[in-house]
Amino acid sequence: MNLALYREFRPKNFDDVIGQDYIVKTLKNQIKTDRLTHAYLFCGPRGTGKTSTAKIFANAVNCTHSLEGNPCGMCAECVALSEPNTDILEIDAASNNRVEEIRDLREKVNFPPLIGKYKVYIIDEVHMLTDSAFNALLKTLEEPPKHVIFILATTEIHKLPATILSRCTRFDFKLLPLNTLVEHLKSVFDKKGIKYDEKSLHLIAKAGEGSVRDTLSIADSVASFCDYNITYQMTEKVIGLSNRDNIKQILSAIASKDINSLFVSVKTALGRGKNIQILCKEMADFIKILVMLKAGVNDYEILDILPGEFATYQEIAGKFDVNLLKKAFSKFAEIELDLKYSLNPENLFESACLSLIEDTNIKNVVEPIPVVSKTVVQPEIKQDNRDQIEAERIWGNVLLKVKEKNMFALSNALTTVNKVKQVGKTLFITTNDLGSYEMIDNSERLNILLSLVKLFDDSIEDVKIEYDKQNASSQDIKDNLKEVFKNKIKFKD
Ligand SMILES: Nc1ncnc2c1ncn2[C@@H]1O[C@H](COP(=O)(O)OP(=O)(O)O)[C@@H](O)[C@H]1O
Ligand SMILES: [Mg+2]
Ligand SMILES: [Zn+2]
Repeated sequence: MNLALYREFRPKNFDDVIGQDYIVKTLKNQIKTDRLTHAYLFCGPRGTGKTSTAKIFANAVNCTHSLEGNPCGMCAECVALSEPNTDILEIDAASNNRVEEIRDLREKVNFPPLIGKYKVYIIDEVHMLTDSAFNALLKTLEEPPKHVIFILATTEIHKLPATILSRCTRFDFKLLPLNTLVEHLKSVFDKKGIKYDEKSLHLIAKAGEGSVRDTLSIADSVASFCDYNITYQMTEKVIGLSNRDNIKQILSAIASKDINSLFVSVKTALGRGKNIQILCKEMADFIKILVMLKAGVNDYEILDILPGEFATYQEIAGKFDVNLLKKAFSKFAEIELDLKYSLNPENLFESACLSLIEDTNIKNVVEPIPVVSKTVVQPEIKQDNRDQIEAERIWGNVLLKVKEKNMFALSNALTTVNKVKQVGKTLFITTNDLGSYEMIDNSERLNILLSLVKLFDDSIEDVKIEYDKQNASSQDIKDNLKEVFKNKIKFKD
């Protein structure tokens, strides 16, 4: 069970924001003295308070009874803005990165706010915008209407064009010191009535690596695993600082192409309450050591291991092929961030492992990716079933393509599809998973799917997705596909 502490403890005013004193003080001052600018840039590592601070600021600039720069929470404006409204707009650039959306924004920007004095646009992950979207945004930033404030947030400041940087007041959010995180954990645990010992707090805070959000989500895993009575021993287990067995198991499973033991060892690792993002990071860290050893590095400090561990690591390194290790290192380093956005991080992690297994296959075993043929799906084709089987054949191949292209999030969502049918020139797919439906039902994604479908049947002109709440247990094509793909694709039940 997840408590989602990081959601529950989202700061409500500036005084709840920890560790960003300079930023908080400056913003409060600007509000008190009414010296606001029209564009702010919040940058810094994830989970340090960018989005939270942006929301508080958006609220505070509109509050009519602001106390020391904080929103009062009680005036008509504060109350109205705490409900969904059109004055404070949060845009996730990761999913709305196209120029049309920014153009749309540019038109709406001109309408005055309905509730307070300012309309505030918070554009999260702004580095994800496309070049043309940046240009469109730039035009607005050049001459923003008086009633508009932009807050751009990003973890990757180096990806922003200089033209944008030069138009914003920039604030750098910092990773938090260990002690601050420990104090914060204490107050969160006390409020939730979770018991703990001091040493565990340090261990958890250390694993959070300066991010409040990560610290709280690790705390989440630990607290649920320990049944709200946190002990050092259990914490250590969950965080796995001393326990690298699972990582070795997973790596061995990949190297020996043992899909069965791969799933088992991932399950075991997670069953111990380990957070999947930590597992992934540990995999990358561990593999990095092996790669360095293979490259002849033998300085303990560079390797970041204890002198006594040298022989053990060397032995492990000897068991793996250096090319596999290199690939594995980049793969796990690469998906670390994606895990955060994935609808199903477990599937994402496993499919990354599977793709490594496929890489290993290339070298040793000649096993081409199966193209689903009509005979594989169903040996005897009845005339009336022909269209249906054809639709399933197309779909199976599309699934493989999506996976091959490492479109992890999409691939995960597509494994919930449980019906496919062709009507005229349209391929209809059905899912009973609302989250997946919402993710796929987007013109950009459907276009990607259509282009893949066309690889296998050029006559299809359109792909549509339907959400089937009634039929939550329908397994129709999933069973067929499961059989065909066996261990190649893991389907959500
Ligand atoms: N500086 C902070 N002070 C208090 N809580 C924080 C801070 N930074 C992050 N958090 C916690 O992490 C969660 C996510 O923070 P968020 O503001 O979305 O981070 P960011 O936008 O920098 O990734 C918040 O709901 C809160 O629980
Ligand atoms: Mg954020
Ligand atoms: Zn107010």
